[in-house]
Amino acid sequence: MLKTHNCGELRIGDAGTPVTLAGWVNRRRDQGGLIFIDLRDRWGITQVVVDLEAAPAAHAIADSARNEFVLQVQGAVRIRPEGTANPDLATGDIDIVADEIRILNRSRTPPFYINRDEGALDEALRMRYRYLDLRREAMQRSLLLRHKTVKFIRDFLDAEDFVEIETPILFKTTPEGARDFLVPSRLQPGSFYALPQSPQQLKQLLMVGGFERYFQIARCFRDEDLRGDRQPEFTQLDLEMSFVEREDVMQLMEALATAIVKTITPEKQLLAQPFPRLSYQDALEQYGTDRPDIRFDLRAIDISDIGGRSAFPVFVENVKAGKKVKCMRVPGAAGSVSGTQLRKITRELEALVRRRAGAKGLAYITIPVDPADQLRGPIGKFFNVDLKLELIEAMGAEGGDLLLFMSDDAPIVQASTDALRAHFKSQLDLDDNCLAFCWVIDFPEFIWDEEHRRWDPSQHMFTMPLPEDLHLLDSDPGAARGSQYDLVCNGYEVGGGSIRIHDRAIQEKIFPLIGQTMEHAMQEFGHMLEAFEYGAPPHGGMAWGIDRLVMLLAGAPNIREVIAFPKTQGGADIMANAPSPAEPQQLSELFIELDLPPEELEH
Ligand code: AMO
Ligand code: AMP
Repeated sequence: MLKTHNCGELRIGDAGTPVTLAGWVNRRRDQGGLIFIDLRDRWGITQVVVDLEAAPAAHAIADSARNEFVLQVQGAVRIRPEGTANPDLATGDIDIVADEIRILNRSRTPPFYINRDEGALDEALRMRYRYLDLRREAMQRSLLLRHKTVKFIRDFLDAEDFVEIETPILFKTTPEGARDFLVPSRLQPGSFYALPQSPQQLKQLLMVGGFERYFQIARCFRDEDLRGDRQPEFTQLDLEMSFVEREDVMQLMEALATAIVKTITPEKQLLAQPFPRLSYQDALEQYGTDRPDIRFDLRAIDISDIGGRSAFPVFVENVKAGKKVKCMRVPGAAGSVSGTQLRKITRELEALVRRRAGAKGLAYITIPVDPADQLRGPIGKFFNVDLKLELIEAMGAEGGDLLLFMSDDAPIVQASTDALRAHFKSQLDLDDNCLAFCWVIDFPEFIWDEEHRRWDPSQHMFTMPLPEDLHLLDSDPGAARGSQYDLVCNGYEVGGGSIRIHDRAIQEKIFPLIGQTMEHAMQEFGHMLEAFEYGAPPHGGMAWGIDRLVMLLAGAPNIREVIAFPKTQGGADIMANAPSPAEPQQLSELFIELDLPPEELEH
């Protein structure tokens, strides 16, 4: 080894020990006869002192060293002189008096500071020089956290008798709702592998293969539009179990989530245990989304009954037409604001739901602090005294509250609810140290796709309907609920799973419903149908987004912060310049000819 100790470990008790350290120059201060170098490695920072008189050769080298030079330093540990200790540094009580310094490598001036957290660093620059970005403490911390999390998961599942098994990356389509990435085959010209969107089929086949408990830290590939919580390649904790029911998987997964948080980030608080469970329907009705952030309680409450009895024509007519009236209580929002401010706030909220949800309006009422006062707001006059009391009761409203009303077709009300919640969330300054996990269950098996006039699997085509809804596949597929369960945390979908179909006859019913001919289904999924005929056990499982989980544990704003080499929003690696054109030779070996649109040819 080029070093005897690391830069984070030496303490007062090591005084007098001769040591060799190696690392990067984090900072250098020249005080004439003395040069101070903060030497950094993965474990920390140690101060090196180089004295011109005692070690002139070392001093000359230290004089020429710059930030990010790689040095090897030989010297002895010394207790720092009285008054010069640095309490912010683990090694702050000592320094190394250098006898000899070697430059192991030089560095150009980095394009950004490595030794300071500058907050708003240009992300494109960080991506372009990711290897330097990775030296920054924040990145070192988040990748270490990722390592610890994955190691913990492996140990936990090993103790539960799971077997880690690798599945192929070159495979065929494994649809999870995105486009496939295709890889052309040289040996079978004109044929393509698809990269797995998940190991879904393969893990089910491992259950048919008798492993009973499988897991994998699996790389998945999805060609879809990118967001802060989506990458074209990402990592799943993928697992599957045989002879289980929904409750078995959910309980084990909840135990795992709890153990991860308590062990890896004990400073974080779990908001509720056991994790609350919401039906898909309730999640949409109350939070306007199937991945609610339950750290804050602004919900849309159905007050159609009251609204229908008011004198406000919009509500009366909508309720007659079978639409709902929903109300959201914003505690205290009208308490200490002037009438002008209130009108401005509500105008902006109304503009928001018009823009984001296509809503026709956003009626509101304020609850007076003094109960003798009138309800204020444009529709206050449509509620008589009794109805007003009923409304206050139903909403649990108190003086100073703002009540917002939405009435329209369900999708518009849901989108409005979601937009309003997102707006208030950004104002609430929620605590990232609080992790609010919840389960969303009872998803519909299918969601209607009006454009293609067919059902789409709401999870994937292998999800078993709930046993009590199985008969609906024939009569009313839209009403059938699936056995799916999603694990949601702070508004992110961290994971999802289900009990699977293990019966060929049931699986065969799914294909025509989702618009696939039997011929196409046989071609793509014939191996699954065949496997189901050889004693496939009942089975179910789940997959977690490891990137999202670690992002939440790290309190990071997006998953790129917890991935060593992520892609940009445009799906590119701007450090290595990928994707890039292939050599003509490579294309001809694959019998591929390009037929690019004119705008691409200009590049
Ligand atoms: P699903 O498609 O819900 O389920 O994926 C499981 C979890 O993976 C994460 N995830 C992503 N993370 C980053 N970037 C992406 N593009 C991305 N897409 C998904 C999410 C998600 O909850 N085979 C099923 C699981 C099963 O049924 O067992 C599946 O893949 O956190
Ligand atoms: P109007 O009578 O059209 O002036 O509307 C009175 C109030 O009701 C305004 O604040 C509108 O924003 C609101 N409003 C109108 N239509 C709806 C609706 N469908 N849902 C909720 N509020 C509405």
